[in-house]
Amino acid sequence: MTSPPEGPGRARQSLVYRAGVLGHRPAVPTDFAELESRARAQMSPRAWAYVAGGAGEGATMRANREAFDRWRILPRMGAGHVVRDLSVDLFGRTLPTPLLLAPIGAAALAHRDSDLHIGRGAAAAGVPYVLSNQGCSPMEDVAAVMGGSPRWFQLYWSTDEPLVDSLLRRAEASGAEAVVVTLDTTMLGWRPQDLNLGSLPFSQGIGIAQYTSDPRFREIVGERVAAAAARGGKADVQVTVGALRSLLSISREHPGGTRANLRSPEPRAAVETFLDIYSNPGLTWETLATVKQRTSLPVLVKGVLHPDDARRAVEAGMDGIVVSNHGGRQVDGAVASLDALPAVRQAVGPELPVLLDSGVRSGSDVVKAMALGATAVLLGRSYVYGLALAGADGVRDVVANVVAELDLTLGLSGVGSVRDLTPDLLVAAP
Ligand code: GLV
Repeated sequence: MTSPPEGPGRARQSLVYRAGVLGHRPAVPTDFAELESRARAQMSPRAWAYVAGGAGEGATMRANREAFDRWRILPRMGAGHVVRDLSVDLFGRTLPTPLLLAPIGAAALAHRDSDLHIGRGAAAAGVPYVLSNQGCSPMEDVAAVMGGSPRWFQLYWSTDEPLVDSLLRRAEASGAEAVVVTLDTTMLGWRPQDLNLGSLPFSQGIGIAQYTSDPRFREIVGERVAAAAARGGKADVQVTVGALRSLLSISREHPGGTRANLRSPEPRAAVETFLDIYSNPGLTWETLATVKQRTSLPVLVKGVLHPDDARRAVEAGMDGIVVSNHGGRQVDGAVASLDALPAVRQAVGPELPVLLDSGVRSGSDVVKAMALGATAVLLGRSYVYGLALAGADGVRDVVANVVAELDLTLGLSGVGSVRDLTPDLLVAAP
């Protein structure tokens, strides 16, 4: 008699239970609450404030969770699905699971060489990593550690249009398979946890590696440094060369950046330039539409909550939408991503990829999001907590735990494939 195929859920359970018999507990807790509390103990107050913090009073973060809690799964029996199909098709690739890693900036706060670890962890888990435009290693370096594993690139639309083109070119050259333009962070939201510590990672050179490694950005900084030197009567090519050397040393030798780097004027110029140009509050749909002529990659827009904006995105030729409120970090009191999802799906029809992030913690959350119309789902803070606890292995394990619970939840609910998830599986909580 052959044993039945077990699937990722039972395989993961067996692994954890078997290690337990030998006296080993998992390095990465298998539920979000314990994961969060262990990561908090590991992280500095500044790191914790940035990663865990949200906008204002935290109402949007709470709404994201409440939205998931308002839906209940109504399991069906006797369906006999011994194995479940978790795969989804996205932009010409069949992904083994419907999960991706959301772009998260300044992750070096949580772990040295953060983005390299995240890239390795994503590759090991078999999920695409959406590289952050506010990452801590140049995208080329992350691509090198990921090999052939899928990665996408998140773009913040700069006020400098040549910089937009430069970032897009680099994303293509480093093997990104899609571009995700984040629309909801044309300015940083009001973030009391960071504000109360007077802490902004970028102002300390953390999270600006895509910029300091960019030829167009370096050109702008060089011009600014030279102009400042000229105003001070010290116009000197050496100043510019020195500035560029310092910038390189921030991005290559100290991916996280340090306070010490910033004592000299040149890296300060890089930080100030970043803060001035990283995002464009004047961004319109007309400008956004130009992206389709500027890259051959599929383009998704992230931060869409209103169905009319979803329609605008389709009119502008976008290839997909990420329904997101930026993990509750931008507008306090905003609608929950999950609550916004059904209307967005309805507005764009059944075919367009519609992804969701914000508030996703577990495999059961993934089931609910997909039942309400998501094509795939992005994990955010949870993988940074895994990173803080165990580097690349921690990222991999966080994903593996969510995938395992997703697989078990499908099997226990009588669903054979994530593609078969529909609202019929859910009921509103009483
Ligand atoms: C930037 O994207 C942030 O949320 O801090």
